[in-house]
Amino acid sequence: MNPVIDLLNSHRSIRRFSAREVPQALVEELVVAGQSASTSSFIQGCTVIQVGDAEHRKLLAAYAGDQPYVEKAPLFLVFCADMQRHRLACDMHGAEMKSGYTEQFITTTVDCALFAQNLMIAAESVGLGGVFIGGIRNRIKEVAELLRLPELVYPVFGMCLGYPDQAPVLRPRLPLPVVLKQERYDDEGDRERIAEYDHAVREYYMTRTGGKKDTAWSEQISGMLGRESRPHMLAFLQRRGFLLK
Ligand SMILES: Cc1cc2nc3c(=O)[nH]c(=O)nc-3n(C[C@H](O)[C@H](O)[C@H](O)COP(=O)(O)O)c2cc1C
Repeated sequence: MNPVIDLLNSHRSIRRFSAREVPQALVEELVVAGQSASTSSFIQGCTVIQVGDAEHRKLLAAYAGDQPYVEKAPLFLVFCADMQRHRLACDMHGAEMKSGYTEQFITTTVDCALFAQNLMIAAESVGLGGVFIGGIRNRIKEVAELLRLPELVYPVFGMCLGYPDQAPVLRPRLPLPVVLKQERYDDEGDRERIAEYDHAVREYYMTRTGGKKDTAWSEQISGMLGRESRPHMLAFLQRRGFLLK
């Protein structure tokens, strides 16, 4: 392999951090690495909000469904899909921006994902670790208010970062034939492949929890997707000016 692929393949989320601070110069370097990601039509539709205030961090941890690392991580970033600066750009040319398109929701959200993943990999390359926090969407309205987000901006996810104080085992991924298809979509044999993968995931959880969690991947997914999934999202996004047409 090569060192970049080795780094990518050794990713695991980190949720416990040492007290060592992350210097602000390094934070800025990581954000620049995030900015270097590909961006749809050069829109650069991601804004990052660094949250250091202790009270705000406590609130964000609660909004995320009581995830203590949101409060405790040395660094917490919120990645926001942002069409506001594009309105400014249109304004600078006397044009009125046509907003509300689903396409714009997709491009800005994808931009955030690429930006954040670049940033995460850059962080891991210098010995930091972290975890994405989609949990902030549990109480997305409160998060948007706390961060004073204007219309046409929404928080996609947060990210905890810091120097790791744990070394979790790698979480096994789906077998390659389930995710890599040739020429056309063909899921024949995937049921059996997933059943086999379930054994690996069960073993992973048993190891990670010292025998307490005995759950297969398909079981976890069927439990999760058998419930509602943040049904407040559509109305929230529409109030923010997204997904209107
Ligand atoms: C968009 C996104 C949101 C996530 N939200 C959370 C979260 O709120 N809390 C958490 O502990 N992990 C969260 N994760 C981490 C995933 O659970 C984790 O990446 C996945 O289980 C695979 O594990 P690994 O990253 O250790 O390989 C999130 C990951 C992504 C990509």
